[in-house]
Amino acid sequence: MLDAKLEELRRATLAGFASAVSLEQLEESRVAALGRKGTLAQISKEFGKLRPEERAQLGKLLNSVKQDLESDYGDKKRGFEQAELAHRLANEWIDVTLPARGVRVGSLHPITQLQSEIEDLFTSLGFAILYGPEVETEEHNFDALNIPATHPARDMQDTFWLSDGNLLRTHTSPVQVRGMRELKPPLRMIAPGRVFRNEEVDASHEHTFYQLEGMMVDREVSIANLIYFMKILLSSIFKRDAIVRLRPGYFPFVEPGFELDIHCLICDGAGCPVCKQSGWVELLPCGLVHPNVLRMSDIDPEEWSGFAFGLGLTRLAMMRYGIDDIRQLQGGDLRFLTQF
Ligand code: DAH
Repeated sequence: MLDAKLEELRRATLAGFASAVSLEQLEESRVAALGRKGTLAQISKEFGKLRPEERAQLGKLLNSVKQDLESDYGDKKRGFEQAELAHRLANEWIDVTLPARGVRVGSLHPITQLQSEIEDLFTSLGFAILYGPEVETEEHNFDALNIPATHPARDMQDTFWLSDGNLLRTHTSPVQVRGMRELKPPLRMIAPGRVFRNEEVDASHEHTFYQLEGMMVDREVSIANLIYFMKILLSSIFKRDAIVRLRPGYFPFVEPGFELDIHCLICDGAGCPVCKQSGWVELLPCGLVHPNVLRMSDIDPEEWSGFAFGLGLTRLAMMRYGIDDIRQLQGGDLRFLTQF
C-alpha cells in the first residue's frame, strides 16, 4: 500500500516539476512533496506501523523517491536560474564604447546677440559704448532732456518711481546726458540697456524691454549724417535693404524729430498684432539734438550740433527673428530661447 503511495508521489511530483513554468511553481510542487508537512513527511509517519523488514524495504524506496525528486528539482531549478540569467544578460547591458553624452552648450539670448552685433558695428564706426544706471535721477531721465515736470511728454512715459525720488529709467536717453557731460564733444556713443514703463502688457508691450541709444555730437552734424548711419545700421542687421519710411515725430529732446518706421517683417505689411495691423513698425525714433539739451549739458549749440536715435532693441529682435509675441522673450521658457 505504502509503496503504491510512494510511486504515485514520485510520478505526480515529477509531472508537477515538468509542467512548472516558473521558479515559484516549481517551488510550490517541491514544498507539497518534500516540505516539512508535505506528502513524503506524511507517508514516513506511517512507517511506525510497519514490521521491521517491511520498513527496511520501504525505507529504501522512500529514499530513492526522495533522491529522485530532489535531483530532478535541482536540475529544473538550475534550468530556471540559467534562463533568468540569460534573459538579464540579454537585456541589462550598456555599451561602454558609446560616446559620452557631452556637456549641454548654452546660447546667448536673442537680444544679447543683437546687442553684441550692434556694439561691434558701432565700435568699428568709432562710437564708445556706455552703460548708464537703470535707476536714474529725474533730472537725467527728464529735465536735462528738455522734459520739465510740467511737460505733457512725461505722461507718455509713465514709470516706476522710487520713494527716494529716483525712478526706473523709461528710456536709454538719459545716457546721452551722461555721455555729453562725461565725454565732451566731439563725441560718438551708443548706450544699450534695459528700460521700464508702467505699461499694460500685451503682444507688443512689456513693462521691461531693451533700447539702444545712439548719439553723435560734432561740428556741422546734419540730417544727412543721421540718415547715413541709420542706413548702415539697418542693412547690417537685416542683411538686406529693409523698407523704411521717415515721418516727422515729436520728441522734446530733438528738433527736428523723426520716426523711422520699418515695413513689418512679421506679416510683410499685411497687418498683425506686432505692427498693430498697420503694416509698419516704429523702430527708430531720431532727430537732431535740441539746442536746449546741448546747453543743459554745457555744450554750446552755436559751435556743436548732433543727432540722436533711440532704437527699440526688443522690437528689432522680434522683427529679425519673426517673434510675434514680446512676452516670449522674457518668459524664461528654454524651449523657446534655445532656438536662437
Ligand atoms: N527716448 C525715446 C523714447 O523712448 C526714443 C528717442 C527718440 C530717442 C528720439 C532718441 C531720439 O535719441 O532722438 O521714446
